[in-house]
Order: sequence, then C-alpha cells, then structure tokens
Amino acid sequence: MTALPSPNHCCSSSSSAYSVNSSIGFHQIQRNIPFSLIPQKKFGSKNVSFRSKCSPSLPDVVLMQDVVSKILSCFGALATKLVATNEAPSPKELKEGLLTVEDRNTVVSDGKGDDSTVSITIVGASGDLAKKKIFPALFALYYEDCLPEHFTIFGYARSKMTDAELRDMVSRTLTCRIDKRENCGEKMEQFLKRCFYHSGNYDSEENFTELDGKLKEHEAGRVSNRLFYLSIPPNIFVDAVKCASRSASSANGWTRVIVEKPFGRDSESSAALTRSLKQYLEEEQIFRIDHYLGKELVENLSVLRFSNLIFEPLWSRKYIRNVQLIFSEDFGTEGRGGYFDHYGIIRDIMQNHLLQILALFAMETPVSLDAEDIRNEKVKVLRSMRPIRVDDVVVGQYKSHTRGGLSYPGYTDDKTVPKDSLTPTFAAAALFIDNARWDGVPFLMKAGKALHDRRAEIRVQFRHVPGNLYNRNVGTDTDRATNELVIRVQPDEAIYLKINNKVPGLGMRLDRSNLNLLYKARYTKEIPDAYERLVLDAIEGERRLFIRSDELDAAWSLFTPVLKEIEEKKVIPEYYPYGSRGPVGAHYLAARHNVKWGDVGVDE
Ligand code: NDP
Ligand code: BG6
Repeated sequence: MTALPSPNHCCSSSSSAYSVNSSIGFHQIQRNIPFSLIPQKKFGSKNVSFRSKCSPSLPDVVLMQDVVSKILSCFGALATKLVATNEAPSPKELKEGLLTVEDRNTVVSDGKGDDSTVSITIVGASGDLAKKKIFPALFALYYEDCLPEHFTIFGYARSKMTDAELRDMVSRTLTCRIDKRENCGEKMEQFLKRCFYHSGNYDSEENFTELDGKLKEHEAGRVSNRLFYLSIPPNIFVDAVKCASRSASSANGWTRVIVEKPFGRDSESSAALTRSLKQYLEEEQIFRIDHYLGKELVENLSVLRFSNLIFEPLWSRKYIRNVQLIFSEDFGTEGRGGYFDHYGIIRDIMQNHLLQILALFAMETPVSLDAEDIRNEKVKVLRSMRPIRVDDVVVGQYKSHTRGGLSYPGYTDDKTVPKDSLTPTFAAAALFIDNARWDGVPFLMKAGKALHDRRAEIRVQFRHVPGNLYNRNVGTDTDRATNELVIRVQPDEAIYLKINNKVPGLGMRLDRSNLNLLYKARYTKEIPDAYERLVLDAIEGERRLFIRSDELDAAWSLFTPVLKEIEEKKVIPEYYPYGSRGPVGAHYLAARHNVKWGDVGVDE
C-alpha cells in the first residue's frame, strides 16, 4: 500500500516535487510496508512542508503553471491511492485534491498542525556563522512566512548573554537580503520576540537539561520538534550532540541536528566523527550541511539537465570535451587563519563544495527526485572516480602584494598562521570519472583565496564541430570556436551558452556571442541565501541537499590519499601575489590535459 502524501506536500505552492516525504518514502516504498506499521524511532522524523505558506517567489505566469501542475499532481496522488489500495479517497482527500488557490492556503494552514512546535537551537550562537548566516536566514524565512506557526529560536553558547543582548546582537548583525524590504523593522521586532538565549557549556548535560526545561516552557505541551544547529568548532561536535541528545531531545516529536563542515580532515577522522555521532543519533537525524548545495544555480543544475531535451543528450564524453569547476575569492583567510591552516583549500572547498557540484553534474538520471534516489546516484559518481594523482594537483599560497599604494597581507602574515606554513590557499586538480558516460573527460577544479575576483562557476566546453564548414571564418584557434555552457553560481547568477554567430552584414564574419540567461534581468525576485533553503529543508525533513554518510566516505576516499601525499612530501606551494590570477602551474596542468581555463577572458 502506498501512503498518500500529506496534504501539505500534495498542494504546497513551491517545489512540492522536492517535498516528497523522503524519510518515509524510500524505506517504505522499498519494503512495501505501510508507514503506520513502522515504529517511529525516538528521534523519528516526520516531514512537514511549510513552503506552502511562503510568499510566492515567482512571477505570476510561472506561479499559475506551478499551481496547475500541483493540482494535477494532487489528482495523481489520489489516483495512485485508488489504484494501489482500491479504496475511494475520503471526502477530505477529495477536497484537498480539488483545491482552489484560496482553499489551498486555508487547508494547508489547517493541516500544518497547530498542536506542534519547532524549536531551533543554534549551538554556538555567539559565533561568526550564527551572526552572518543562520540568524539572517531564519529571519528571512520568518519574513517570507515560511516558518511554522509555533516556533522558538534559542541561542546557546558559553558567552553570558541575556535574551535582550542576543536580540540586540541579532538585530545589529542583520545582513540578510530582507533588510531593505518593506516592514522589515516591524517583522524584525516580531521575530526577535521569538528569540531567546541560554548560556551553557557544550559538554554539560546539566546545562542542556536547563535548556530542555526552557524549551518545554515555550512548547507549552504541544508536540515538540527540535532542531539543533551545531555552529561550533568541530572538536566539540560530539560533546554537544551527546548532551543535546541525552538531555534536550524531543520526547514526542523529531530531533534533528545540522552539522557544519568540516566533517573530519581525512577518511579516518571523518569515519570516527560519524561513528561518534551515531552513538547518539540515527543517520536520518544528521543533516550534514554543504551550503553550496543550497545555492540557487546548483539547485537548478538538475532542472536544467533533466527538464530540457536539448541538454541531456549532449551530457557525456561524446559531446563534452572537459568540465571546469571554478571557485575564487578576492579576499584571503583573514580572521579564519587558525581554522584554515589546519585544513587548506582542498579540504575547505574542493573535497566538499566543488566535488558535490561535480557529483550532481555528472550523475545518471535518478529514479525520482526523492533524496535517497538522488544521493544514490551521486555516490555512484564519487565511487567511479579515478584516484587523484599528485602530479594532477597544483598547490599555491598567496603572498603579500602592494598595489596602488595599498598593501595586501600574505597568508603567513596572519598571526594565527605559522610563518613556515605550507598550507595551500589555492589548488587546481584534474579528476576523472571512469564510467561509460565520462571516460576520458577531464573534470578540472580550481579553487583559491586572495585572487583577482570572486566567482563560482561551472564551465562545460563542448567538442569541435566535425568537418566545420566555417573553420576558415573561425581562425586558427578552433578551441575558442567550440560551444561553452557556463553556469555562474555567483555573483550575478547566470546561465549562458557561447555560440558562433554571423556578424550582420554582407560579408561572412563570425563572432562569439552568448545566449544569456542573466537572473537579475529575467527575475525580479531576489535569490534566497543558501542557508535559507537548507534550514527550511532541515525543518521539513527534506534530506536531498544534505550529505549522506556514504557520500562523505566516498568523497574522503577520493581526496585522502592525495592530501596525505602532498603533506608527507611537504610539497612547496607556488606563491602568487594577493589579488592575482593564481599560480601559473594551473595553466600547465590544464594544458597537459588539453584544456584551457575558460575564466581567463571576458565573455559576457
Ligand atoms: P566560531 O569560531 O565563531 O565559533 C562559534 C562559537 O563556538 C564561538 O562563538 C564560541 O562561543 C564557541 N567556541 C569557539 N571556539 C571554541 C572552543 N575552542 N571551545 C569551545 N567553544 C568554542 O565559529 P564560526 O561561527 O565561524 O563557525 C561555526 C562552524 O561552522 C565551524 O564548524 C566552522 O568550521 C563552520 N563554518 C563556518 C563558516 C563561516 O563563514 N564562519 C563557513 C562554513 C563553515 P562561546 O565562547 O560563546 O561558547
Ligand atoms: C566555506 C569555506 O565553506 O565557504 C570558506 O569554509 C569560504 O572558506 C566559504 O569562504 C564560501 O562560501 P560563499 O557562500 O561565500 O561562496
């Protein structure tokens, strides 16, 4: 018997295809057991979609299509139930399958369950990430009406702070996209009233028991669902999880924990962290965040590929010459040198953010958009990757530089970094996926700090046109004349395709032009921050954008040997000036694989 999706999923106003109840869906469908017969674990996770309440985020024309398709999908769900169970839908189900837009909002708000609450505890609330990202994301969700009706936010850290001081800190550090919006002040005040603080140690069960008492007061006897966001250094993750799970987990709802990277620094430490976390949590309670998966254009990758006929047939070694994954920042490690020196750019960016994008980019078509189906496909890609050779990696470190009378510090000028540190702040690498689709196609990664610009992008360079009639008009650099698809994740989100085009006129001159989808020109709505999407997903129990433990193992298996070799051999990084384009070695590496980096020219 197939369970009918909850009304919230069935008729939510955005991304309902993604709001399928992944936690129940996979196991239940796999084993064909009704969910009601599966005992709910103590930390059991039940999905609820609050997106249904969020303000519409798309132009009207798109929203109406969305509504029509949601209504059709509701009919689909009812039909599925009818076929699977031979039971007629109840009047309530029928009603929910026949919603008008207005009805839908009413039913959804009835259905979200006034008898339940969500308590979000930010562990490490006094820190940088909490101030910069988590509180602003929560406020944006509140502003957009995406949070459940009954929610409470607790900051937890050792620093002594009153509720009023926390509120003051949050309001002063509000840097989110909402701060220029209408009624922001008013909404902020309402939001702050829902924020509280409890001071405690991360390894004190007693302090977490006190927190539990306060959470209970706010939950006021409703079903309690609890989300802990670990925004603390990794060496205290396990202590905090142990205390939270033993002393402050929910007695009658779900308990989930968002864990921030780094998830270890190699295969062994990552496995040890997972083992320790699993002493206190089930895998399904652990939400390992990689915020790049929450970025709009990364989220759009699968849509682009699987919902447009023109891309998927080209998505293989047959047509693609190489793929480039590029990350650069125009600032150094300022303020985070202590952390960074222990990890370096390969662990900080490549092993997670860029590799996750690569896996999404290269995976086979998943069976469905269900979290487990997508993550299964990503793992297969990671496990098909060829071990990385040290010769296929270039490392660099930025040095001080003076430009226009201004002096920029070198990496080792940071007081928290040892003077003789060899930690790379730049790396480029060539990776290969040894499967039928991608055999022989170089996937080049490049990531660096203190470079000349800030960008994250995916570049797909296509093969040469065979027997091109227009070779003469293109000139000698045929590489330049091949098509290139660029997915610019940030800044100025865009997708553009470089094509050859005839310059208008009586002659036959070709130039390179872009078919350009620049988001800010196409959509009026601002793009939500990645943390907004991810926090909301965690509240809803949607795991698609979080890293499963086997994905993490596969990612570390790929990078650990080469990282160890670089460290054991004490490979000297190539020094590059702050604000430059990075080590020239990256170009030699690319050339060895017959590739030219696509980010060297101006192409818009
Ligand atoms: P912080 O270094 O600011 O630490 C957060 C809080 O943890 C601090 O305010 C402090 O609170 C407590 N803390 C710090 N050091 C220790 C310690 N040695 N022992 C006990 N408690 C300590 O971290 P961030 O906010 O920058 O980052 C949080 C997590 O998110 C980290 O795992 C980080 O790697 C990860 N991350 C951060 C990003 C960022 O942009 N900042 C980006 C991506 C990931 P108190 O003293 O009040 O207890
Ligand atoms: C974090 C890294 O994961 O991502 C940082 O630890 C990096 O070093 C940051 O600066 C980049 O994120 P974004 O969203 O600003 O591109």
